[in-house]
Amino acid sequence: MKQGLISVSFLLFLFYHCTTTLAAESPVQAPSPGPTDVSKVLEKAGGFSVFIRLLKSTSVSIQIENQLNVSNTLTIFAPTNGAFSALKPGTLNSLSTEQKVQLVQYHILPSSVSLQNFQTLSNPVRTQASNTYDFPLNITVEGNWVNISTGIVNTTISATVYEDNQLAIYKVDKVLLPLGIFAPRPKPLVPAPAPVKPSKESSYSTLNSPVAALDASSALNLMPALASFGVLMVATSLYLVSS
Ligand SMILES: *[C@@H]1O[C@H](CO)[C@@H](O)[C@H](O)[C@H]1NC(C)=O
Ligand SMILES: *[C@@H]1O[C@H](CO)[C@@H](O)[C@H](O)[C@H]1NC(C)=O
Ligand SMILES: *[C@@H]1O[C@H](CO)[C@@H](O)[C@H](O)[C@H]1NC(C)=O
Ligand SMILES: *[C@@H]1O[C@H](CO)[C@@H](O)[C@H](O)[C@H]1NC(C)=O
Repeated sequence: MKQGLISVSFLLFLFYHCTTTLAAESPVQAPSPGPTDVSKVLEKAGGFSVFIRLLKSTSVSIQIENQLNVSNTLTIFAPTNGAFSALKPGTLNSLSTEQKVQLVQYHILPSSVSLQNFQTLSNPVRTQASNTYDFPLNITVEGNWVNISTGIVNTTISATVYEDNQLAIYKVDKVLLPLGIFAPRPKPLVPAPAPVKPSKESSYSTLNSPVAALDASSALNLMPALASFGVLMVATSLYLVSS
């Protein structure tokens, strides 16, 4: 009985302590320090839940937070849920973890680009996916359109979701499918073996070919007014010789 009373009062004490601690802490959390929360922005905008899930499951959301924390600027192309459901069924599931990370990083540019500034970028544009050979991305401005081409998919920015001086988020209606994952190109060749040096004999005969000699003499010996006539003659004789 006594023991029960003690534990009840202990619980009451704990309860009281917890509630007062919570009450004391909540006002401090209100100003919400730190950078813009991309997931929250997208949640609020609505229609991006698949992309949000992908950002989180690949941990790219943490990379983004880190980069914004150290004052880097970013541009994010956020594909809509409709964009993901338009993919061939199983497309995402067929990707390895690394490919998923690269797919998400391909949707992020390492600087904040305003709509007006897209035309200042040079193609291929650098994304956060490994490199522009495997992950090329072209962005062109055509009148009011900002067109994006991956080599597999063409799309256009359909709305601005969010913009401040550090972060721009744009809505795209297609998932940007990079060549590097969906149609890998062969690696650039290792420097080809040095071309076979032309032998002395062949270069000699080229220099002394009748055509070269004729061309040189006609250009040198004719009066300037006749030069074009000479060229015409050479061209004609070349034509006759070759036909
Ligand atoms: C970013 O900064 C906020 C506070 O400024 C901190 O709570 C958060 O852990 C940091 N995030 C990362 C990924 O470093
Ligand atoms: C750019 O996008 C717009 C809108 O989708 C389209 O009408 C136009 O043909 C595109 N231009 C090129 C060169 O792809
Ligand atoms: C980007 O544009 C360049 C030059 O127009 C072109 O050669 C290249 O194929 C384009 N790449 C993509 C991914 O659209
Ligand atoms: C994308 O646009 C380019 C140029 O406007 C065009 O040549 C290419 O065929 C288009 N690709 C697709 C997949 O629509």
